[in-house]
Amino acid sequence: MRALTRRTVFFGFFILGGILLKVFWQGFVHDVVRLPKHFVHGTITVEEALWKRRSIRMYTDEAIVPQELAALLKATHNTASADSVMYPGQSFNIFVYIRHVQNIPAGLYHYCSEKQELRRVNKKVAMPDIIAAVPGRDWIRKSAAMLIFSADYSRIAVPSWERGMRSSHIKIGKAVQNVYLEAASLNLGTVVMMAFYDDRVKQLFLSGSREEPVCLMPVGKPLKDAR
Ligand SMILES: Cc1cc2nc3c(=O)[nH]c(=O)nc-3n(C[C@H](O)[C@H](O)[C@H](O)COP(=O)(O)O)c2cc1C
Repeated sequence: MRALTRRTVFFGFFILGGILLKVFWQGFVHDVVRLPKHFVHGTITVEEALWKRRSIRMYTDEAIVPQELAALLKATHNTASADSVMYPGQSFNIFVYIRHVQNIPAGLYHYCSEKQELRRVNKKVAMPDIIAAVPGRDWIRKSAAMLIFSADYSRIAVPSWERGMRSSHIKIGKAVQNVYLEAASLNLGTVVMMAFYDDRVKQLFLSGSREEPVCLMPVGKPLKDAR
């Protein structure tokens, strides 16, 4: 009887351990992706990047590496993160749809700039749905990842709503240009896109009722002489 109890306790611990391990694995390995701190650096000057920068819509099917994605995402907050009193908290959100990035499972993530990590969003998103949300742009299917910039208007302090909204759009514009420059420096291709069905993009990527999509940026390895 005592042996039976001991065995029951042992198996109880065994099962509990298994459950905890699964939670740990899902929570820390699958749901949160820590981006590399030492990301890659380009070798050209800002002026060269400004001249080289152009919108690229043709990508090879190759994966990009996490260091490249980390550098692009870091660029979004290098100069764009200082928030004003009018727009407290993080002034815009960046979601990342991963299609083909080495060692990062495909899916939708929210980018946390303070911790330089991606947090998985519990939404099922597939490339055909994205293509259906962006009319006439089926070339995005070969992009390795897609950045989705959104503004959460519910976070704007009421007396300065108009100004807060403008401020958030300016910050997103700065972040977009930084991604363009970083992509040029790393020999990656990207383009900013505003022509999409708002409701479909919102449904695919966002959750807050007052969170609005502002623009998308597919990213990938450019085809030779791509435009
Ligand atoms: C605000 C804005 C919205 C844009 N929206 C789209 C878009 O929906 N689809 C697209 O293919 N390109 C879009 N573009 C990219 C422009 O077409 C591109 O910047 C223009 O062709 C100039 O080329 P360049 O960026 O190589 O100088 C947009 C650009 C800006 C600035």
